[in-house]
Amino acid sequence: MTDRILIVDFGSQVTQLIARRVRESGVYSEIHPFNKVTEDTIRAFDPKGVILSGGPASVADIDTPRAPDGLWTMGLPVLGICYGEQTMCAQLGGSVQESHHREFGRAYVDVVDDCDLFHGVWAVGAREQVWMSHGDKIDAIPEGFRPVATTDGSPFAAIANDAKRFYGVQFHPEVVHTPHGAQLLSNFTHRVCGCSGDWTMAHFKTQAIDAVRAQVGDGKVICGLSGGVDSSVVAVLLHEAIGDQLTCVFVDHGFMRLDEPEEVVCLFRDHYNIPLVHRDASDVFLAAIENQTDPERKRKAIGGLFIDVFEEEAKRIGGADFLAQGTLYPDVIESVSFIGGPSVTIKSHHNVGGLPERMNMKLVEPLRELFKDEVRALGRELGLPEAFVGRHPFPGPGLAIRIPGQPVTRDKLDVLRKADAIYREEITNAGLYDAIWQAFAVLLPVQTVGVMGDARTYDYACALRAVTSTDGMTADFFHFDMEFLARVSNRIINEVKGINRVTFDVTSKPPGTIEWE
Ligand code: XMP
Repeated sequence: MTDRILIVDFGSQVTQLIARRVRESGVYSEIHPFNKVTEDTIRAFDPKGVILSGGPASVADIDTPRAPDGLWTMGLPVLGICYGEQTMCAQLGGSVQESHHREFGRAYVDVVDDCDLFHGVWAVGAREQVWMSHGDKIDAIPEGFRPVATTDGSPFAAIANDAKRFYGVQFHPEVVHTPHGAQLLSNFTHRVCGCSGDWTMAHFKTQAIDAVRAQVGDGKVICGLSGGVDSSVVAVLLHEAIGDQLTCVFVDHGFMRLDEPEEVVCLFRDHYNIPLVHRDASDVFLAAIENQTDPERKRKAIGGLFIDVFEEEAKRIGGADFLAQGTLYPDVIESVSFIGGPSVTIKSHHNVGGLPERMNMKLVEPLRELFKDEVRALGRELGLPEAFVGRHPFPGPGLAIRIPGQPVTRDKLDVLRKADAIYREEITNAGLYDAIWQAFAVLLPVQTVGVMGDARTYDYACALRAVTSTDGMTADFFHFDMEFLARVSNRIINEVKGINRVTFDVTSKPPGTIEWE
């Protein structure tokens, strides 16, 4: 078995980044919520070391989360980060108090002693940048520990107990604002825990295939294909694992981009020979949102109908025992988060939630531990063409939510499809595709007056949107040069009948969202 690190999650917003950094150091890791971790589950997981994450609670309060007591006598190396360091101190006989001097954001630590964590990056006497986010303060460290870094606000910004291989850091090494943080974590996994660092996506693929075979047995699995990266990777992985026990269902709602349905069918049916049901349901979808201009109603109508059509097709192939989904790690964390109260619905994302209960199916989610770029790496490992692997995200309701404030008709979809294709083609030709998170055109509900040749035109305006982002949660608009925008605008107005004006959207998220609806 490959070496593995267990990350115990106390609810920090950035726990997922710890897993990511550890995997980047070539070591497999998994995050388990603190309330599911016991001495027995740790033994069963058999890690080479344990990392305790940060979290929103205060160790100084009663009834706040703790690591299982057994952890401290298992002989495993432990690294506590922020709340993780505080609970380590509190549980091992140190003392933590609420502090009036809170530290948030960029801070500097003074390295006061040698430590395995610092090997090769931080020297004694150096002042190093870190990122802090904590209110509590450790005012006494447990026996056997020594301070190895301090800040003006905390004398125990990093502590070490070499004999037991326990380490604690008050700052967050997992975020990029701690410039040497990845190296500190790699020192923990390699130097302290002795991990060999041989974990790769090829390992993940083999493990995932074994896990799917074990879960599914000889059951039947269906997978909803959208043409996006996640569902495509799931489909190909499952096909490699269970062959013809898998059927893919591609519900074409008629809101796809230019040539997209053909590309999906060609890749899966012809290239991979995966059994694929292609249902052209564009008539029913269009009818369901006819004259519907309210964004939420439109989204709900599409999401509901998608489930109905998928269910019909699933019945037609004799049903299935399992539903395969491309759930990613950030989705998992959002849904198990114990931090937040009820949050406001900004928009209802389209998904196939609701299907498993309705159809009595179990879920197969082989990507639930991965981040988007890791899914892309897995796709490459599985031999998926770059054109699929590198695709920009595309929303489930498709072009229907890019024709805002007006009835969605086939004619308008055609006009938008053409403008969108020109825009994306120019982005690819300019070598900008991979620098952009997502780029698309929006058909505006406004007609404007223009002059072409010697004639008056009265056609629609379109908006171009392009954003950079790391996770879709926040975004900035992409700063094209004006030449590029002029070229795209010129081509769209000349080549797309129905559009006579092009605008560029310079809104970030927040306050905007990426899609217009
Ligand atoms: P917003 O517009 O909320 O979008 O800033 C964030 C990211 O999510 C995508 N998106 C969706 N993806 N189903 C999806 O699968 C949806 O209903 C949906 N709505 C938005 C959006 O394209 C962007 O990448």
